Amino acid sequence: MNNKHILGMDIGGSGIKAAPVNIKTGKLLDEKHRIETPSESTPEAICGVILQHIEHFRWKGAIGIGFPAVVQNGVIHTAANIDKSWIGVNARKLFSKETGLPVWVLNDADAAGLAEIKFGAGAGFKGSILLVTVGTGIGTALFVKGKLYPNTELGHIFMKGKTKDAEYYASDNARKRENLDWEAWGEKFNEYLTMMENLFWPELIIIGGGVSKKIEKFQHRLKLRAKVEPARLLNDAGIVGAAVAAKIYLKK
Ligand code: BGC
Repeated sequence: MNNKHILGMDIGGSGIKAAPVNIKTGKLLDEKHRIETPSESTPEAICGVILQHIEHFRWKGAIGIGFPAVVQNGVIHTAANIDKSWIGVNARKLFSKETGLPVWVLNDADAAGLAEIKFGAGAGFKGSILLVTVGTGIGTALFVKGKLYPNTELGHIFMKGKTKDAEYYASDNARKRENLDWEAWGEKFNEYLTMMENLFWPELIIIGGGVSKKIEKFQHRLKLRAKVEPARLLNDAGIVGAAVAAKIYLKK
């Protein structure tokens, strides 16, 4: 295995993206490749997409995969935006068996956070950090002194007076579903981040996911105490972080 180059993948609700990553620099070594997430996102269908990515890059080395759920020791425990048949599946074993390659699997927001801590907006920051990735769902990653507390599912917390969890009201899906402009969505997102801030008091909030590319459209709506920064690796943070995690954990 070339231990400097790892294939990073980010499994999302709408697309599955992959690129080889130089984990020393955090740079993509090739153009990112995106395949639509199958409408029935079952283990079989997702394995099919992973094999297509491997074929596309003619990949023979290690792979790191960010998955949109709680992942403990490779096992998927939740399925908010992915087929429910994933619950209880050891994704790490399944992907390793199907690809014949060494694979590491972790939560997608944790992956994005690891990339930002190493190469991006959180690099060198010693205080408390909350990374929030916004896409189909809302994913979160909490860090203190550069160390991750894994699998925080703070997109599923309930906001005051609401009957569904926060990601239903403040995700990018909510913006599209309700046809909100960035100003109106920014208000809702601010409400969500204010609640996070009042509960966790992070010193830095990093915004990742698809909306990180549009931050200038809603940043003025965010009235927070913490410093707010877009993910410096923008929407590639998940891919880069998954590769970084594979490098760290596969050798253990
Ligand atoms: C899932 C999280 C995931 C987030 C972003 C949520 O619905 O529960 O595990 O990190 O979406 O994909």
